[in-house]
Amino acid sequence: MKILTIIGARPQFIKAAPLSRKIVETNGITEILVHTGQHFDSNMSDIFFSEMKIPAPTYKLDIHSLGHGAMTGRMLEEIEKIILKEKPDCVLVYGDTNSTLAGALAAKKLHVKVAHIEAGLRSFNMKMPEEVNRILTDRISDFLFCPTESAIKNLKNEGFDYFNCKVIKTGDIMYDALKFFSEYAPSPDEICHTTESKHYALCTIHRAENTDIPERLKAIIEALNEISKQIQVVLPLHPRTKKILESLGIQAHFKIIEPVGYLTMLGLLDNCQFVLTDSGGLQKEAYLKKKYCITMRDETEWVELVENKVNFIAGADKDKIISCFNLIYHKPFNAKEGLYGNGNAAEEIVSNLIGDKQ
Ligand code: UD1
Ligand code: UDP
Repeated sequence: MKILTIIGARPQFIKAAPLSRKIVETNGITEILVHTGQHFDSNMSDIFFSEMKIPAPTYKLDIHSLGHGAMTGRMLEEIEKIILKEKPDCVLVYGDTNSTLAGALAAKKLHVKVAHIEAGLRSFNMKMPEEVNRILTDRISDFLFCPTESAIKNLKNEGFDYFNCKVIKTGDIMYDALKFFSEYAPSPDEICHTTESKHYALCTIHRAENTDIPERLKAIIEALNEISKQIQVVLPLHPRTKKILESLGIQAHFKIIEPVGYLTMLGLLDNCQFVLTDSGGLQKEAYLKKKYCITMRDETEWVELVENKVNFIAGADKDKIISCFNLIYHKPFNAKEGLYGNGNAAEEIVSNLIGDKQ
């Protein structure tokens, strides 16, 4: 069986690492990796391949820094050529980026099966590019590998029981990655060197809904400036946010560092007091590492975290972010385990793909 995997953005490299490893170990299945180039700085791309020992991509498309239409369109065109040449049995896509949609659409139009990992998630906010990408990708997928029960429910509500596709709950592939790579994370002493404090909050900001609206970005940074009077705030800064903060002249009075590799990120998570983020992946990782998370968005796809009171939705509201901080700072972490499966999603996915071929 031949699988063509499309990746291009940071979280997709992390998600692909455990599955690529599993595919290499499995007889009768080969993987060809296509890197669209969506993320291209070495600390947004190469570092993940070297640290996580992901095989080098066979195809590197170098498509990035474009508007949604041009980026998705150019990827679609190039991926189509690769599918025609390689004739895979299945195209595998992860998550909800423009690379995801381009891969799924190219495959479906050529009647090649599509497998979507992280299927069924919804924010119900159609202004998010991610929501559009994931809804369209789900609708044309043949295999919908869902991380959670709520993802399965979303698909049922949209009528997927009546579509010709397989909806399978696998648990979350990011848990596989976290379980496997945690032992390679840097020590607390090494982390302390990066953070310049033993007590710190870990933060990331990159979502368009925050970076593209100056008032939202300003309110978030003001809240972080306020929180940093009580605890060090450490922000590995996405290049998108960096460019916008600079252009708007917004001043952050806390510790900003360059984006880090996944192993350093796991070390930062292990040792932090809590997390503030608008990232999808980081919300789950905070829970898996038993840390509270303040989500600086108006909603989340990871509703089970909110229901279990480990994730607090604060939007881009300065006062709300600060009051969430007051609520969780010093509060011992307590949550039900197992919300994201048991870290063997890769095995589940591979056995379903192979089972279908036999
Ligand atoms: C993309 C995804 C988002 C995901 C995020 C993961 C879409 C629509 N969005 O957002 O869902 O959460 O990746 O991090 O696909 N840039 C660099 N260097 C890089 C990467 C990006 O400078 O290595 C710059 C680009 O030039 C561009 C901006 O950052 O100006 C945004 O990049 P883009 O890939 O369009 O979107 P992300 O915000 O990274
Ligand atoms: N991450 C990382 N280095 C960083 C910031 C994030 O390795 O400097 C990891 C993070 O731990 C998580 C993934 O990147 O595994 C999440 O990616 P991101 O926040 O870019 O995208 P999202 O999950 O929101 O789509």
